[in-house]
Amino acid sequence: MRLKKKGMQWLRVLHILSISIWLGSVVCIGGLAAMCFFQLNESEFLTVAPLIPELYRSVVLPMAIFAMIQGIFYGFFSNWGFFKHRWVVFKWALVILTGLCTGAGGIGQMFSVLEKVEKTGFAGGWADGGPVLLFISLQVLFMIIMIVLSVFKPRKRDRQASLA
Ligand code: HEM
Repeated sequence: MRLKKKGMQWLRVLHILSISIWLGSVVCIGGLAAMCFFQLNESEFLTVAPLIPELYRSVVLPMAIFAMIQGIFYGFFSNWGFFKHRWVVFKWALVILTGLCTGAGGIGQMFSVLEKVEKTGFAGGWADGGPVLLFISLQVLFMIIMIVLSVFKPRKRDRQASLA
């Protein structure tokens, strides 16, 4: 079964909506994390910083899962398929990398900083926040690359034509 024109348009609306919420939330989480590491004292940090994994769990994760379900829909029910276009394959790879930078990166690192602060105190700044902020920036970067890929949809044939 293939989706018809209207179905594809609605899928695109849902896709753009969910990835906007996903990217927007990650940018806001990045802003909140920067405030936590650069502007708060230890007790404020221990109150606010646990909200970051919570935001990932309650807002980012559902949107990421929703976007991946749409990716599966594109794969099975549209002509885009899973492996027909290199940019689509590349998007799957970037989605997996973004997932790793979220789970093991942003969230995992935040839990280890919280544990460290409880044991040995809060240093703040890049000393405590470096890895968390790096992984959040990577998530944003990968998502921007996915948006560029999706809009330009680079094809082999286009490149060959432009070289000719
Ligand atoms: C989970 C894997 C994903 C797959 C398999 C996938 C696949 C696709 C496909 C096939 C289209 C083309 C729809 C069309 O033109 O009718 C599309 C559109 C788009 N995707 Fe994804 N996508 C995925 C995740 C993402 C993510 C995470 C982002 C952003 C961070 C994203 C950004 C976009 C954008 C902006 C468009 C609209 C492009 C346009 O209207 O020209 N996608 N996606």
